[in-house]
Amino acid sequence: MVPRLGNTQVLIYLLCITAIGVLSRYSWDMSLHYLGPENSGLCACHKCLTESDPWFRELINSSPTPFLSRNYTSSEDDFIWWKHIQNERRNFDSYKTTVDRLFQIFPPIPDVVGPSPDRCRTCAVVGNSGNLKGSHYGPLIDSHDIIIRMNHGRTKGYEADVGNKTTHHVMYPESAINLDNTTHLVLFPFKIDDLLWLLKSFDPGENSANKARRANKDLVMILNPAFMKYVHEMWLGKKGNYPSTGFLTLALSTQMCDEVNVFGFGADRDGNWNHYFEILKNKQLRTGPHAGMHEHEVILKLKEQQKIGVFKGW
Ligand code: C5P
Repeated sequence: MVPRLGNTQVLIYLLCITAIGVLSRYSWDMSLHYLGPENSGLCACHKCLTESDPWFRELINSSPTPFLSRNYTSSEDDFIWWKHIQNERRNFDSYKTTVDRLFQIFPPIPDVVGPSPDRCRTCAVVGNSGNLKGSHYGPLIDSHDIIIRMNHGRTKGYEADVGNKTTHHVMYPESAINLDNTTHLVLFPFKIDDLLWLLKSFDPGENSANKARRANKDLVMILNPAFMKYVHEMWLGKKGNYPSTGFLTLALSTQMCDEVNVFGFGADRDGNWNHYFEILKNKQLRTGPHAGMHEHEVILKLKEQQKIGVFKGW
C-alpha cells in the first residue's frame, strides 16, 4: 500500500531532493577544481592528451581504429593509398583474404586498455636515435606503463640509456627481431607480403624445434593501413612518401595512452638518422623516403604546446 503524503510532507520531500542535488553538484565542482582545470575526468593523469586544444582532441578522436581486427573492414580507398607505398600489385580481394587468414591465428580483437577516469596510461615511445647514447634515460623510460620500441632497437648492453623493459615492439619483416613471451609484436605492414610473412612466422610447420620463436602469438597486433593513411594526411599534411616508423608509433601511442613521452628521436648533425646501437656507415642516409625534418618539426611543436614530452638526449 502506498502511504498518502500531506502538503507539508511533500514540501519537505522536495526540499530534501533539491538539497541533495545542490550538494552533489557542489562536491563534483570541488573535485574538478581539485584535479585542475584541464582534468575533467577523462583520465587520472595530471593532464590527459585528449583534454588539450580542440584540434588535437579532434585529431586523436577522428582517427580510424589503429589496429586491424576481425570485425574491421578496410575500405578500398585506404587499400589504394596503401598499395602505392611499395608498389603492391595484388588486388583488394587478395588483401582481404589475407587479413581474414590473420585473424584465424592471431587475437581477433587487439589487446588495448581503454581510457578511464581512474586510470593514467603513460607511454614511452623509444626511437632509435644516436642521441640516446649517454642520456641515462633508462630508469625514466622504464617507469612508463607502456614502452614501445621499434625495428632493431635493443636494450641489452644499453640499459642505462634506454632501459630494459619493452611492452610493445614495432617491426616489419626487414627489421624483425625475436621477442620474449611478454612483449607485443606490433606489425607495421607495408605490403601484402608483410602480412603473409607474419602468417609464415607463426606457422607450426615452418617453426622447427631448433628455430627461435618470433614472439608470443597471442600478443600480435597489426597496424591498420587506414591509420597510416590518416597519419600521412592529417598529422603530416601528406609530406614525405609515407610516415616513418617512429612517427607512426608516436601517433599510435596517442591511441593507447593518456600521457606520451618520446625518446630517441632526432638526426645527427649531418641530418642522418643514426642509431644508438651502431656506427653509421652510410653518411648519405638522411631520413630515407620520409619527411624527417617535417616530422621533427611536428614533434617539437607538440612539445612546445605541452601535448607530449620530448627527451632530446645528448
Ligand atoms: O632507423 P629506424 O627506422 O630503425 O628508427 C626508428 C625511428 O626512430 C625512425 O623511423 C625515426 O622516426 C626515429 N629516428 C630518429 N632519429 C634517428 C633515428 C631514428 O628520429 N637518428
